[in-house]
Amino acid sequence: MNATAPQATKVPDTRGLAGQTVGDTAICEVNQTQLVYRGYEIADLAAHASFDEVAYLLLVGHKPSATEIAEFKREQGGLRAIPASVRDAVVRVVKESPSAHPMCILRTGISLLSHLDAECESNDPAAELRKSKRLLAQIPTIIGVCQAAREGRAPVEPDATLSHAANLLWCITGKKPDELTARVMDVSLVLYAEHDFNASTFAARVIASTETDLHSAICGAIGALKGPLHGGANEMAMEMLKDIDADCAGGAMSVETWMKRAFAEKRKLMGFGHRVYKNGDHRAPILRAWGLKLAANLGPSGQKWFDLGDSVQAIMLRDKAIHPNVDFPCGITYFCMGIPVPQYTPIFVASRITGWCAHAMEQHANNRIIRPLATYSGPAVQGWRV
Ligand SMILES: CC(C)(COP(=O)(O)OP(=O)(O)OC[C@H]1O[C@@H](n2cnc3c(N)ncnc32)[C@H](O)[C@@H]1OP(=O)(O)O)[C@@H](O)C(=O)NCCC(=O)NCCS
Repeated sequence: MNATAPQATKVPDTRGLAGQTVGDTAICEVNQTQLVYRGYEIADLAAHASFDEVAYLLLVGHKPSATEIAEFKREQGGLRAIPASVRDAVVRVVKESPSAHPMCILRTGISLLSHLDAECESNDPAAELRKSKRLLAQIPTIIGVCQAAREGRAPVEPDATLSHAANLLWCITGKKPDELTARVMDVSLVLYAEHDFNASTFAARVIASTETDLHSAICGAIGALKGPLHGGANEMAMEMLKDIDADCAGGAMSVETWMKRAFAEKRKLMGFGHRVYKNGDHRAPILRAWGLKLAANLGPSGQKWFDLGDSVQAIMLRDKAIHPNVDFPCGITYFCMGIPVPQYTPIFVASRITGWCAHAMEQHANNRIIRPLATYSGPAVQGWRV
């Protein structure tokens, strides 16, 4: 071999805009070493801030004072009810189409809300902030109405006295959550709130950049988040663990064999991998630690899922060097809360609505339509008439 021959360099795979920076934002920084919301690091926020405070930080732009957060929470409590026509439509869709995914129903609910929002067509900054606050407050109510209809029971009225996280649990389950469950849900919402130009947020910014209305941008973002490669992974991760548990029941197969088969079939394991984080997702260990506290309360029936998750995680790291992302502990944690799996991604929406709205407002504040170029790879020009 010629020692002076140039080494073959691997051409970076830029499909999916991998590795490309496509704009500026002052809302969030995501990199290998940290995740920052408007200057505050995620572990700090998860330990010391409530989701309500993080929502204010993202939407309004600064850390709230004690007076500001008290007023924000009071205002949120008063905005939670949804119009009867929206509630009735959600119930009707669930009844007529029981297999409709709750993400699609939530998207429809928000689309219906837009028709009844007097400020729907206004992109004035103050109007956009008011609409963002209304969406934040009303999303848990829609999720709750949807879940109650799926179970064939009457929905509960949202509780204005509860935090966003506790009210969300109340709306979904119809039961007031204990302190630990509400805290763990709150932390999960803090972790999910924002993540710079992820697929759904970028979709929201593209839509907002046409100067259409905020609700349209949010409906598009929900469609993007639903996909299994994005937010839908929290549901798929838990479904995957349930499959492994069933296939390995009674020693029918080892987890190792299950994983080897999945690798041989070139399957994507849900809740693993990340476009940006190659050495692990900063959010995953934070949520895992809180989820384990919940599991400890449940005893063996909860711990079992974290133990199974640990086995899968260890094999994934050993054989593929791929780390879990936040959706992996999230799926197990929500399962330990007793939440039906199809509501995991809607819960993600109840948090990420803050990031989406902040980005839509940032886009509108300095707008130019997002319209990139494409490299044509089709046939050469030819005559239509032969
Ligand atoms: C998140 C995700 C979409 C990122 O996609 P990406 O940036 O295009 O993926 P990468 O370029 O890092 O993938 C590198 C390699 O790892 C593999 N890989 C990545 N994630 C994997 C997973 N979850 N399971 C199995 N293999 C995976 C890819 O197939 C690829 O293999 P190849 O080089 O042989 O083609 C991808 O990791 C994935 O599909 N994960 C599962 C879904 C998920 O959990 N989504 C939530 C993200 S927060």
